[in-house]
Amino acid sequence: MEQTEPHPLFVFFQVMLRNPVSVSAVAPSSQELARAMIHGLDLSSGGSLIELGPGTGALTTQIHRILPTAGAYLGIELEEKFVRVLRTRFPDLRFVQDTVAKAHRVHADSGLTPPQIIISGLAISTLPDSVQEAFIVNIDRLMTPGSVFRMFQYVHAYPMRSSARFRRRMDELFPVYHRSRVVLKNIPPAFVLTWQR
Ligand SMILES: C[S@@+](CC[C@H](N)C(=O)[O-])C[C@H]1O[C@@H](n2cnc3c(N)ncnc32)[C@H](O)[C@@H]1O
Repeated sequence: MEQTEPHPLFVFFQVMLRNPVSVSAVAPSSQELARAMIHGLDLSSGGSLIELGPGTGALTTQIHRILPTAGAYLGIELEEKFVRVLRTRFPDLRFVQDTVAKAHRVHADSGLTPPQIIISGLAISTLPDSVQEAFIVNIDRLMTPGSVFRMFQYVHAYPMRSSARFRRRMDELFPVYHRSRVVLKNIPPAFVLTWQR
């Protein structure tokens, strides 16, 4: 008998209950937040796009729409069960099960062109300090002139010390910063933050 794949939402809650700190979300991002995350992004110049922490693909659905070719995409996700869901949902995209703390190496091994866009779905404030620092070092190594880094930050986590420290470090490295208005249709509401080199 053919086995059916579990629903992505079921897998999300299963992994979230087992590993709440790493997943750090009560639900996958809404499509309103996903649309805000790709707003104004342009990949026509031939670079690649890296998505960090795609989870079950809530942002990936929208990201797929701005890809010139599926080959321009690379997703890096820590949770094996999420990677399985992602490969089923998006069979034309490439996903690597690894940590963002090794994003530079994973990208180098992929043979992709330098990233023009990096989109992160990670909850920065809950990352251990060492992973947060490695994350920043990797973003710094990946970003080329003109490239864009975008992430969301939940409104309630925005003032947290670890979130503020992360933003200060990013501001030092990347001169151009923008914070969106609050995306209310998301649980919980979130800002979209963009840095550019
Ligand atoms: C807040 S959830 C967001 C999931 C999805 N991007 C969304 O918006 O619905 C954070 C995601 O980052 C992943 N993650 C956490 N730590 C990671 C790490 N060190 N490396 C790669 N992915 C990680 C989690 O497994 C989870 O899928």
